[in-house]
Amino acid sequence: MSIRSCLSVILAAGEGTRMKSARPKVLHEIAGLPMICHVARAAAAAGGGDMAVVVGRGAEMVREALHDDGHDGHAFLQAERLGTAHAVLAARDALARGYDDVLVMFGDTPLLDTDALKACRAALADGVSVAVMGFRASDPAGYGRLIEKDGQLVAIREDRDCLPEELEIDFCNGGLMAIAGDRALSLLTRIGNDNAKGEYYLTDIIALAHGDGLRVVATEAPYESVLGVNSRAELAEAEAIWQRRRRHAAMLDGVTMLAPDTVTFSHDTTVEADVTIEPNVFFGPGVRVAREATIRAFSHLEQASVGPGAEVGPFARLRPGADLREGTKVGNFCEIKKAVIDTGAKVNHLTYIGDASVGAGANIGAGTITCNYDGFNKYRTDIGAGAFVGSNSSLVAPISIGAGAYIASGSVVTEDVPADALAFGRAHQNTKPGRGKALRDRLAAEKARKSGG
Ligand code: UD1
Ligand code: CA
Repeated sequence: MSIRSCLSVILAAGEGTRMKSARPKVLHEIAGLPMICHVARAAAAAGGGDMAVVVGRGAEMVREALHDDGHDGHAFLQAERLGTAHAVLAARDALARGYDDVLVMFGDTPLLDTDALKACRAALADGVSVAVMGFRASDPAGYGRLIEKDGQLVAIREDRDCLPEELEIDFCNGGLMAIAGDRALSLLTRIGNDNAKGEYYLTDIIALAHGDGLRVVATEAPYESVLGVNSRAELAEAEAIWQRRRRHAAMLDGVTMLAPDTVTFSHDTTVEADVTIEPNVFFGPGVRVAREATIRAFSHLEQASVGPGAEVGPFARLRPGADLREGTKVGNFCEIKKAVIDTGAKVNHLTYIGDASVGAGANIGAGTITCNYDGFNKYRTDIGAGAFVGSNSSLVAPISIGAGAYIASGSVVTEDVPADALAFGRAHQNTKPGRGKALRDRLAAEKARKSGG
């Protein structure tokens, strides 16, 4: 790791009008995490030093998102959106503190990786004054083009300002720039706004530095790490790339996926080795899956923990606070919320367990419901180890079922059941021999009489 001091400036004040959203663009999420937090994480991982974030509309929300993700940068307000160079200068006070390296990143390039950042910093350490991250675009429309003369970068031209022949250039500005700290302010303050948009373009720094005889270079990154998100379509494209990378990493870590393209991860999903994930599984934020567990098809998990060797689904829903311990089973059409399912317990079919604990080895029959809510308050259900709850039982909380207790099928249980007790919470069955046939005969005779007369 370099000992050069570094300031990371993240620009997040753009209007993002093409998103057509009430939310600031940089707060739109990739894998459940705001884009700007992805960028801040990449900066931190590359030793990006102090962080300055330039915010505009929705400044408070952006600040809060960064804070929630553990970044304590300084926020600077760009009151008017006058361009990317103007935005960097909003952080003038931070720049003036004097850093060896200044990294400028865009809050809308969520796939930025640390290698790209490190490559740019390495160029500065090598005596370069400005390094820009370029990429080869299959469709360069909308991006700034890197203009080279005799193999030497001399300028960046924005799409709208390009000459027709420049529009053909496919080497584009990925948005990431590294500037020697001792040059940054003097270069930035000389940038003008004489262009198609009348904005102060950060990209003009290249022509200025080149004109001063300073060394400028373009390093190259794959498109997949600099993709800029300006619309929902590009947001989906970035999401798809992120997911593809994440699945690949999971498989390299020993996770089996039958149809990886149909599995969606969150930014913080952790999956241990020898886990099997069947098709069409969705992981919301905060899920941990321990070794040798199986997540069967069409399951939806969120803020939940799946213990070693546990089986979930198919068609299961684990909601926040679901805590499945080792060797448990939660089967088809079951929903678990804020509940511990202890070692080896089984909740196999069509069941809702919420605000509850299910003891080790307990067996919850099909269609069991913990009635945890009266429209105003939530109440707990505690089921002891080894208890057996017969199918189609309603457990009206607050209630506790003792260890080893046995609940008859179809019971509505409203009183606590002690350990090892057998509880019936249903009407007595009344069986009358022969009366079924008598009833049928009478009904048939009545019908015949009516249709005959
Ligand atoms: C910018 C680059 C372009 C590059 C592309 C890569 C400039 C002039 N153009 O174009 O060369 O190929 O990114 O994705 O730099 N922002 C502010 N304040 C402003 C303007 C922008 O904070 O006044 C922020 C935006 O929130 C965004 C970033 O800067 O995060 C880039 O702005 P955007 O308008 O998306 O620039 P592009 O047209 O994509
Ligand atoms: Ca952009």
